[in-house]
Amino acid sequence: MSGKEDTAQARVSGPPASLVGRRITLCVSGSIAAYKAAVLARALLHAGAIVQPVMTQAALQFLGRSTLEGLTGRPVRSEMFEGPGEPHVELARWSQLLVLAPATADLMARLAQGRANDLITATALCARCPVALAPAMHPAMWEHPLTQSNAARLRELPGWSLLGPVFGEVASGDEGLGRMLEPEQIAAALPVLLAGSEQSGGSQPAAQLLSGRRLVVTAGPTAEDLDPVRSLTNRSSGKMGFAIAASAARRGAQVTLIAGPVALETPAGVSRIDVRSALEMRSALQQALGEGAALADALVMCAAVADYRPQQPSTAKLKRGTGTLTIELVPNPDLLAELGQARVGQRPFLLGFAVETAAGGELIAAGRAKLVRKKVDAIVANAASDALGTDDTRAVLVTRDAELPLGPGSKQLVADQLTEFLAARLQEG
Ligand code: C5P
Repeated sequence: MSGKEDTAQARVSGPPASLVGRRITLCVSGSIAAYKAAVLARALLHAGAIVQPVMTQAALQFLGRSTLEGLTGRPVRSEMFEGPGEPHVELARWSQLLVLAPATADLMARLAQGRANDLITATALCARCPVALAPAMHPAMWEHPLTQSNAARLRELPGWSLLGPVFGEVASGDEGLGRMLEPEQIAAALPVLLAGSEQSGGSQPAAQLLSGRRLVVTAGPTAEDLDPVRSLTNRSSGKMGFAIAASAARRGAQVTLIAGPVALETPAGVSRIDVRSALEMRSALQQALGEGAALADALVMCAAVADYRPQQPSTAKLKRGTGTLTIELVPNPDLLAELGQARVGQRPFLLGFAVETAAGGELIAAGRAKLVRKKVDAIVANAASDALGTDDTRAVLVTRDAELPLGPGSKQLVADQLTEFLAARLQEG
């Protein structure tokens, strides 16, 4: 590795975010390294991203359209004037990240000049999201002063990063600086670029991805009264559920937040129902979800619902005695499992939470077991030490066929990842 590669890597800094639910436009230009775009697409998809492929005419000479279409499940875009709209404007609005890999010397030259003579350059000019370029070319082309000045120009643009190139063998068999950074390394660098743009407040307001969707979110602990002044409760702060409600509302959803006893402000644009006990939460859920849960597209069951309640709460304050005190507890209904059991079809989408004392593989296994037992679509599994009362968190989103990392980062960041995941799932129908 040369000093130049190190410089390229050093531009990537800040805490990592995840790619779950991120809308990434993967732009492929005409280099032999185009075949590696398929591996990159797969790595991004495995990391939970939604990948829209775009290919130049030259790239189509190197890699079949159907390879990227088969992998991503989306049609390859390559024409500026296809369909009634303006594809570059639509793509720029849709994208949360543009990845140009491989980026040829010609593509870099056109970008550096601000040209917009194909779908990739026009989209890049229109976009305000982070842009990552992975240059790939013969070392002689990379070293040329024209390419070097173009690269320097692109690096200076706010939100633009060059990943590589690296030293190694290139297609001609020559060795030098010009080889594309390996797809796995590109994929590994991207969360950091996204986190960087989010920390600086992002460059675009939240897209209205949940516009017209109705979400019910539960949050906080429940409190099960022992007598008029005492209750059994837990250490849930409600912050995660409130952050999810806020994030969904910012993305245009109609949100009903059912909150246990917490002292948190209602997020803007959210309707709130306050409850205390699990049974009150059950009634509030019936009210918010309606007959056959038909009033909601998704339920996010983030509340830490008490599993037991006193069999007979005392109507008068319990008096201090000298002996031990035994309180008979009876099980509460499992609200999420009831809804999973009763659901006919695929709506509402059911997302539960599992706070466990386990970690790693055991945590994922516990999340998956809960997903099956409660008949839900996804479970956010996190370790108690990462979840309770903290401002930052990390978790694993367990679905039937994948495990996707969430965070580490603020509960707001994780909430945004979750609402974007929900938007993508609801769009799938
Ligand atoms: O089984 P466990 O309590 O760990 O499952 C947690 C998930 O189930 C959370 O989504 C929580 O809101 C939900 N739950 C429920 N009713 C209960 C207990 C938990 O809906 N009585």
